[in-house]
Amino acid sequence: MERRNDWYEHPEYYEAIFGTDTEREVDFLLALSAKHGTGGKQWLEPACGAGRLVAAAAARGLKVAGYDISETMLAHARERLTPAQRRRVKLRASRMESFAEPSLEGRVDLAHNLVSTFRYLDSEAAAVEHLSGTRKLLRPEGIYVLGFHLSEYERTTPEHERWVGRVGRDSVVCNTHEGLPDRRLRRSPMRNRLRVTGPGKDWLIETTWFFRTYDGAQAQRLFRASGMRVLATYDFDYRIDEPLGRGSPRLDRVFVLQPAPDAALPRRPSRRAKR
Ligand SMILES: C[S@@+](CC[C@H](N)C(=O)[O-])C[C@H]1O[C@@H](n2cnc3c(N)ncnc32)[C@H](O)[C@@H]1O
Repeated sequence: MERRNDWYEHPEYYEAIFGTDTEREVDFLLALSAKHGTGGKQWLEPACGAGRLVAAAAARGLKVAGYDISETMLAHARERLTPAQRRRVKLRASRMESFAEPSLEGRVDLAHNLVSTFRYLDSEAAAVEHLSGTRKLLRPEGIYVLGFHLSEYERTTPEHERWVGRVGRDSVVCNTHEGLPDRRLRRSPMRNRLRVTGPGKDWLIETTWFFRTYDGAQAQRLFRASGMRVLATYDFDYRIDEPLGRGSPRLDRVFVLQPAPDAALPRRPSRRAKR
């Protein structure tokens, strides 16, 4: 067995596991845009990865700007676009903490970030920078659809999920472990193992990192500090007619955010709030 250690260096296997809901996600985003936002055509995907959603949105006639920290993921994204899609797409290398694009200011109808990627931002300051930077790019009625898993600090056992997929003749098994969330450090240890087997191939791709943690109240405080208001909340079932009620116990959350009309400039988080 050959060991490797970064699943984002292997976008095809990443997508065999996490790219199976793409069309349903685009349907849901379009429905959210019509229901809560402008319904307009300019989309933005922070941390767009290998571009599965970028390509699917461009195929529906939308104009898409995307950025990611990983050149490998971006190369894969560029390669997959048809010439017609390429004319509607702009991709570049950048970070969620600092992305700025003057030509997009006040022009984005919908930004989205669905699969807990936001939790890579490892401090309150970085999360505020990202949200307030994205707010600047949105139209006043535009929306930012942010999906991530809330943490339960009382949890006493790690969480485990297992998926299987295929790429050509290779089979892929993915096991993800989220360790116990640390309320003081505001982080959870994550470990992802992809086992890829096929003709002449037996790879174990293991990636470990920390995700920042949020409970419901911490998420709400962050949104307020970033000048965003929550218009509605859904879960990862993506059912447009079934928003979550206030106080829902569901931990998988899709927040529909909009620039708060009277938002003062975002406060820098206090020292106390930094963790
Ligand atoms: C789970 S993938 C999601 C990709 C894509 N949004 C999707 O749904 O398929 C996470 C992506 O976040 C990128 N990433 C991680 N930290 C980042 C940061 N600080 N700024 C920009 N991209 C980041 C990784 O390179 C990776 O491509």
